[in-house]
Amino acid sequence: MRIHRYGDASVIRLDDIPRPVPGPGEVLIDVAATSFNPSDIGLRRGLLRSVFRIDLPYTLGGDVAGTVVEVGGGVHTLAAGDRVIGRLDGGGAAAEYVTAAADTLVAAPDAVPLAHAAAIPIAGLTAWQAVFEHAGVTSGQRVLVNGAGGGIGGFAVQLAKYAGAHVIATAGPRSAETVLRFGADQIIDYTTTPLADALDEPVDVVLNLVVVGAETLVPLVRPGGVVVSVTVPVTTPAGSPVTAVHFVVRNDTSHLAALVKLVDAGAVHLDVSASRPLTDLASVHRDAESARTRGKIILVP
Ligand SMILES: NC(=O)c1ccc[n+]([C@@H]2O[C@H](COP(=O)([O-])OP(=O)(O)OC[C@H]3O[C@@H](n4cnc5c(N)ncnc54)[C@H](OP(=O)(O)O)[C@@H]3O)[C@@H](O)[C@H]2O)c1
Repeated sequence: MRIHRYGDASVIRLDDIPRPVPGPGEVLIDVAATSFNPSDIGLRRGLLRSVFRIDLPYTLGGDVAGTVVEVGGGVHTLAAGDRVIGRLDGGGAAAEYVTAAADTLVAAPDAVPLAHAAAIPIAGLTAWQAVFEHAGVTSGQRVLVNGAGGGIGGFAVQLAKYAGAHVIATAGPRSAETVLRFGADQIIDYTTTPLADALDEPVDVVLNLVVVGAETLVPLVRPGGVVVSVTVPVTTPAGSPVTAVHFVVRNDTSHLAALVKLVDAGAVHLDVSASRPLTDLASVHRDAESARTRGKIILVP
């Protein structure tokens, strides 16, 4: 599923192109699934050209789960038949086959269907890096996950719980049950309740996964605490005792492998809200643009 120009969802089209050939250090993957990420909309609209290099035509799909079918020169760590997942810097997984650098891939979890594991890379890595690298969540902390019903949120709640935190999560009615199942200690229904009214004491950490309302978060944090935002940068007044961090996810196979281990151990569950045929990709983009999606949607070629 490729775009030849930037624009609305109608620019996404099904193309029949030759199967790619793995170069040195690469493998060819028979794709079991990719997953939708909100950044795909920005890529498609041409808004992320300053962040990611894009050559048109561009094949969408930054997450991959699949089976190695061929290895390129110099690849000794993977072999045909290996089940792998990864985050692809240049996209390409919205296809039947994709090539990827072998050193960006890790073994897929055994505990979930291979296609479902496409839900892990981008959302899981972002949550991992927010919780452990940027917020440094530790046992006993009060952590607010703002936007827990989304793809990153499901991982963030479970990872913060895994770290031993007390987790407060914002979620609407359609996501509240899932977020509670993932271990949240308190749910705030953002559709009815202002955050400031629902919190009885400040939090140590805010993980902000939502675009709107970020400026209201700083007063909820205790002095010395931190707001980590993966969407818009949050600004703090001069001399504020609260630290604000904004970051962009990066590939780290040690983080990805650690996530896979937690999935296999049953400590982290995947929130696959829908499995759609890959040819529905434009429709999934439209659903996401009108806020009709939640959790992770996987797309199966
Ligand atoms: N910095 C990075 O490197 C990086 C990496 C990946 C993604 N991102 C960005 O991170 C954001 C989240 O990504 P995602 O994949 O988790 O998105 P997503 O799955 O599309 O998030 C959708 C969810 O957002 C929730 N939501 C919407 N408005 C809300 C509000 N006002 N308060 C609380 N929850 C709200 C909805 O929850 P309910 O179902 O509860 O209504 C919905 O389930 C996106 O903006 C994405 O572009 C950044």
